[in-house]
Amino acid sequence: MHDTLPYVQPYWRRVLSVCAEVAEFYGFGRIDLPLLENSEIFVKGTGTDSDIVQKQMYTLRTKGGDYLTLRPEGTPGVVRAYIEHGMANQLSPTKLYYEGPMFRYERPQAGRFRQFHQFGVEVIGGASPILDAEIIQIFTVILDGLRIRDYTIHINSIGTTNSRIKYKKVLKEYYRSHQRQVCATCRERLKTNPLRVLDCKDEKCQRVKMHAPPILDYLDDESSRDFKAVLEFLDAQNLPYFVNPYLVRGLDYYTKTVFEVFAGGVEEGEQGVALGGGGRYDGLVKTLGGGGEEDTPAVGFALGIERIVQHMKDAGLNPPKKAAPRIFLVQIGMLARKKSLALIEEFRKANLPLHTSLGRDSIKSQLGVADRLGVEYTLILGHQEALSDDIIIREMENGGQETVRLEKIIALMKKRLARKSKKK
Ligand code: HAM
Repeated sequence: MHDTLPYVQPYWRRVLSVCAEVAEFYGFGRIDLPLLENSEIFVKGTGTDSDIVQKQMYTLRTKGGDYLTLRPEGTPGVVRAYIEHGMANQLSPTKLYYEGPMFRYERPQAGRFRQFHQFGVEVIGGASPILDAEIIQIFTVILDGLRIRDYTIHINSIGTTNSRIKYKKVLKEYYRSHQRQVCATCRERLKTNPLRVLDCKDEKCQRVKMHAPPILDYLDDESSRDFKAVLEFLDAQNLPYFVNPYLVRGLDYYTKTVFEVFAGGVEEGEQGVALGGGGRYDGLVKTLGGGGEEDTPAVGFALGIERIVQHMKDAGLNPPKKAAPRIFLVQIGMLARKKSLALIEEFRKANLPLHTSLGRDSIKSQLGVADRLGVEYTLILGHQEALSDDIIIREMENGGQETVRLEKIIALMKKRLARKSKKK
């Protein structure tokens, strides 16, 4: 769990503002959710067999005996809120976006933290494959807004729950003859959640996977038709993607389209840094008790903010710099100091950034700070000036000084800064 220090804040601000701007443009409304939810919604939603529920949840028991979990991801909470607030009765589909910290008890390593931050979008109540394509497009528009061009989209369809029953049988059959060549965890997965063997990072397992039957050969008609349509929409947008028939993702709720966006060029079988991922989850609303007997189809993604920021830093994609400080106020003596607080406030109201070092007494050390900041003007309010309601303006470039009336200082500085900015 990390601190986010002032010098990295500009990256965060940039990422979050681009994400929010894009989401708002595409008609998404922001939702903020509690960090704690009843554990049940993750157990049922993210899935009992997922790594998250098995190993990664921070769960606590309250004095009242309830089990609460620090959210490991955003999707189940969004769906819980969708059901709780009756959003199904509003304009359909419901489009929501969110950002904030998520918590997973992971083995910490580069790009994998125990508290990390996601930005995510969810479209709930729409089955059309164009929505799958739209959210992938939104992901790429965000990356483009951040000038990140070096990424690869991996996409697959894991089909409807029904079509997966057949595939799981075929997969188990294939792995039965390779039992000895896979890791112990995968042998266990074959019993509980066979699709997850395709997600194993172990080298031995990767080799066995290379010849495993691809899920795309076992999709039912509806899943195949929808997947083809998603790809056609992406083609029409000229969005480059890579069909990876072994991409399954680690959360249990996915149906049909799944995708992941990697930093750089990642080929099938290679391990990359996932900037984000998502897919369709047509059964989740029903699993969490919404939508009556019917499924409420939904699709979404989340991106990892730390990973995006790291990628920007590695690629030298620096956020715009804050404007350099231009005016510094030096104050000497008690009376001047008292007047300074009101003066600073006047500058703030006039939208003129004024820098100070109020805790320092000596003129020398205050001028030293002004020098280090490289300001264009230093204003000096000494005891004498404070008594006579004057102030000294020193132009740092040539050392020229003049004394002016205190009440005129704001208007004067506005003019001078504007004149200088024009010359530049
Ligand atoms: P996820 O693939 O588990 O999906 O997480 C999405 C992204 O969050 C990852 O691609 C990665 O960038 C970031 N991330 C995940 N775990 C960590 C970690 N421990 N440290 C740093 N970054 C991390 C979901 O969470 C789904 N809720 C996405 C979704 C939304 N699917 C449908 N709608």
